[in-house]
Amino acid sequence: DAAARDRGDLAGVRVLVTAGGTREPIDPVRYLGNRSSGKQGVAVAAAAAARGAEVVLLAANIDTSVLAEVASDPAVRVVPVGTTAELDSTAHAAAKGARVVIMAAAVADYRVADIADHKIRKEDSAGDAPTLALVENPDILVSLVRERQGDQVIVGFAAETVESEDELLERGRRKLARKGVDLLAVNAVGWKEGFEAEENDVRVLDMDGDVVAAVAGSKREVADALLDAVRDELDFAES
Ligand code: CTP
Ligand code: CA
Repeated sequence: DAAARDRGDLAGVRVLVTAGGTREPIDPVRYLGNRSSGKQGVAVAAAAAARGAEVVLLAANIDTSVLAEVASDPAVRVVPVGTTAELDSTAHAAAKGARVVIMAAAVADYRVADIADHKIRKEDSAGDAPTLALVENPDILVSLVRERQGDQVIVGFAAETVESEDELLERGRRKLARKGVDLLAVNAVGWKEGFEAEENDVRVLDMDGDVVAAVAGSKREVADALLDAVRDELDFAES
């Protein structure tokens, strides 16, 4: 709650946050990517720092205007990353010293099998549209859970295109079980809502699949509600 936050309820807690969206190169000038702005993850990093945490923020292709929220905060160390492979290795290294891991980044599920070493040119393909062969990326979150450090609290995010609240929670519970995380923040996305928006509407599920927080508001308000749930997990582990 607000009073606990003001007392610095995450003082000295080391928190790893990933944010933004990974990009997979096709050739030297093109990539496969997604629409994540990084705003929600940056808001989590800023909120955690405001509550006293020492934050490492792995920023996947986030605009400097979005990173401005944490750029001058000495409690947030920003490490830029590009591809899923880069996020994978930096996340595993940074997770070693972290009490809390929050995977807000939108990770590309697939990468291009053979990255062209020169620009793909139309005149080389004689009018035929090229076909991109893809390979599946490793699931970073699943491997962080597998290599969990002590009683580290690990949090995932899931943005789902759904028809109803029930479908959102049902998909969320399945994903939570599949990933083995302590908490999963789920929200509905579509062509308009979710990504570039300033507001977010999120449910936080715990390991039992119970909704422990439901918050619609600014991305900072969503971040603080999520961190309240993280604080509860830490209290439980330490009791
Ligand atoms: N994630 C990850 N590594 C991946 C894919 C996803 O670490 N290769 C993480 C995301 O950072 C997020 C969580 O897993 O915290 C859920 O991501 P999501 O894309 O919803 O899960 P997927 O297992 O990829 O399922 P889907 O097929 O719905 O995309
Ligand atoms: Ca995915």
